[in-house]
Amino acid sequence: MKIGIVGVGYWGANIARVFFELKNEGYFDGEVVIYDLIQERAKKVAGEYSFQLVNKLDFLLSDPHVNVVLIVTPSSTHFSLAKQVLESGKHVFVEKPFTLSSKDAAELIRLASENKVRLMVGHLFRYHQALRELKRRIKIGDLGKLLFMVANKYGIGVPKEDSGVIFTLAVNDFDNFCYILDVEYPETILAHRGIFLQEDYEEYTSISVTFPHNVQGYLSESWLIPIFGRRRELIVVGSKKTAVIEFLKPNEIVIHNAHIKKLEKDDRMVFRVEKKEPQKIFFEYKEPLKEEMKALLKMVKNNEESESSGVIGLRAINMCEIAMESAILGKKINVKEWLDEKNL
Ligand SMILES: NC(=O)c1ccc[n+]([C@@H]2O[C@H](COP(=O)([O-])OP(=O)(O)OC[C@H]3O[C@@H](n4cnc5c(N)ncnc54)[C@H](O)[C@@H]3O)[C@@H](O)[C@H]2O)c1
Repeated sequence: MKIGIVGVGYWGANIARVFFELKNEGYFDGEVVIYDLIQERAKKVAGEYSFQLVNKLDFLLSDPHVNVVLIVTPSSTHFSLAKQVLESGKHVFVEKPFTLSSKDAAELIRLASENKVRLMVGHLFRYHQALRELKRRIKIGDLGKLLFMVANKYGIGVPKEDSGVIFTLAVNDFDNFCYILDVEYPETILAHRGIFLQEDYEEYTSISVTFPHNVQGYLSESWLIPIFGRRRELIVVGSKKTAVIEFLKPNEIVIHNAHIKKLEKDDRMVFRVEKKEPQKIFFEYKEPLKEEMKALLKMVKNNEESESSGVIGLRAINMCEIAMESAILGKKINVKEWLDEKNL
């Protein structure tokens, strides 16, 4: 197998490192070819891991031995690069956000099908051990009746030049919510945007979503909050237990057993806090990015759909578009009506 990586900035260099490790661990015995618009960057990463290097995308696309190409470039370039890969008849992996419009996302899915190749989107958290364990616990009713979920992503970073935090950060939490609840979409989305530095792109967003059975989701995302070391957190509150994941710790979940009990007393309702010790659950450490790349290798080897297919990527982009529209119009949007209107 031969893998092409297009774009080896911050994240692409991480992906190259993972393939180097997978080779050393005997999990992957193929070759890796690097391409970046900035040749010096490609040279540095290829040199570090003794990978091959090309100085033109065409060399990668016309190489009959290359099976799959990973697009790890800025979001605004995803569509045109992925389109070229698909048209060359190769499988493609596109980092998140899949594209910056649902029209482009749908077109890439169509092209993959037309060219009989696979399309995978970088929804990394679907390969995160703690999130998988949380999904399992929700399914067996371990938390009791689900009440609400809170997702926070805070940090300080140079704003992207082609998108705001809805397409860059909220895109993951929309997908995480749907993944753990096993649904395609929320029922409604209401979003607000805070724009402070750039004209068109938000640096803060606060979004509320509703799911069936009155389960609520709240997202709060910003790259303007100088939290040391970043914060990426998911809290799921149930009637019996609350689960907390810190995404930067993929091998643990904290389960808080404390909850509020409702009691009837002298014909009136009273509330009591049931205090119980929290429980920290640890499991084997598996780097989410490495798990994701293993899934990519499996997709290519078996020519089968991955857990983060183009359709998953498209749904997340639809949710981002709805959130943008909601924030601009200042109103809550019914997701089903929006999808019906757009014929999606
Ligand atoms: N899944 C995750 O957790 C995660 C984390 C970080 C970034 N990302 C995504 O990865 C992508 C890259 O982000 P980054 O932080 O590495 O950005 P970056 O700016 O550090 O790197 C992008 C690289 O792409 C190269 N590039 C730009 N246009 C190109 C083109 N047309 N052809 C070839 N190379 C080109 C640039 O020279 C640069 O080296 C983005 O889509 C981002 O959203 C995902």
